[in-house]
Amino acid sequence: MELLVERKGAVEIWTIQGEARRNSLTMALVRELRERVEAAGRDRSLRAVVLTGAGGRAFCAGADLKERARMTAEEVHGFHAAVRDGFTGIERAPQPFVAAVNGAALGGGLELALACDLRVMAEGAEVGLPEVGLGIIPGAGGTARLPRIVGVGRAKDLVLTGRRVGAAEAIAMGLVSRIAPAARLRDEAIALAEQVARNAPISLRQAKRAIDGGFDLSLEEALALENRLYQDCLASKDRVEALRAFAEKRPPSFTGD
Ligand code: COA
Repeated sequence: MELLVERKGAVEIWTIQGEARRNSLTMALVRELRERVEAAGRDRSLRAVVLTGAGGRAFCAGADLKERARMTAEEVHGFHAAVRDGFTGIERAPQPFVAAVNGAALGGGLELALACDLRVMAEGAEVGLPEVGLGIIPGAGGTARLPRIVGVGRAKDLVLTGRRVGAAEAIAMGLVSRIAPAARLRDEAIALAEQVARNAPISLRQAKRAIDGGFDLSLEEALALENRLYQDCLASKDRVEALRAFAEKRPPSFTGD
């Protein structure tokens, strides 16, 4: 088992179980991650996921370079395709994903965090995309997702140097939205996921789609996309429930219908 899955109410905490290899991405881990993401898409009771790594040293140290060294060229292609699919699956999942970056997130490890919707980082952790120093380039979304999150100039500063940045710089550039002392990181990430999970599931799904899908469109097209996704919410029972709850001065109870 490569991922420890714990349930806390409507939130799941997925912890990569590979402390000795600094939670690096093996083929088995990537397979399990894809299966879990697919299952999450079918689980209507699951409202948000926290993704983190075991131990305090690493969130994920990228591809497992020892396994990689034993792979044939064909296996490397298969691995790479599976990683890309898995990360895109997280992005397209109906639930928000929170990366709790508990330690180093390097290469594919940072790309995994970039595919999540929210990132909380431990003080003392470091993140970076060192690929150009390894004769490759980020290949699991780094060059595509990082500039969308922090802007082209900052993304090039990280990708072309391959340097690592700490929590203070990461939050200053918008690479993560929150930082926390290492000892409190997990709890704070769970609290954030719980806060998200209290909202209407259809709204969460549509809001993710509106932001991710609208980002590269013209303003006019993005507004049209937002309007389509907004209209879908109008037909939901949860919208009616929210109005009723407001009138009755109680918190809403959302079902995702
Ligand atoms: N793949 C396979 N094993 C890895 C690994 C990786 N990406 N990263 C670390 N490990 C292994 C080390 O080989 C070492 O194994 P050993 O005990 O058998 O020698 C073990 O994890 C501990 O590594 P160490 O470097 O001593 O840990 P650390 O806590 O001091 O540092 C990192 C952690 C992640 C900062 C550091 O290991 C590192 O920089 N790793 C390489 C990251 C990288 O370049 N990834 C590829 C991006 S494309």
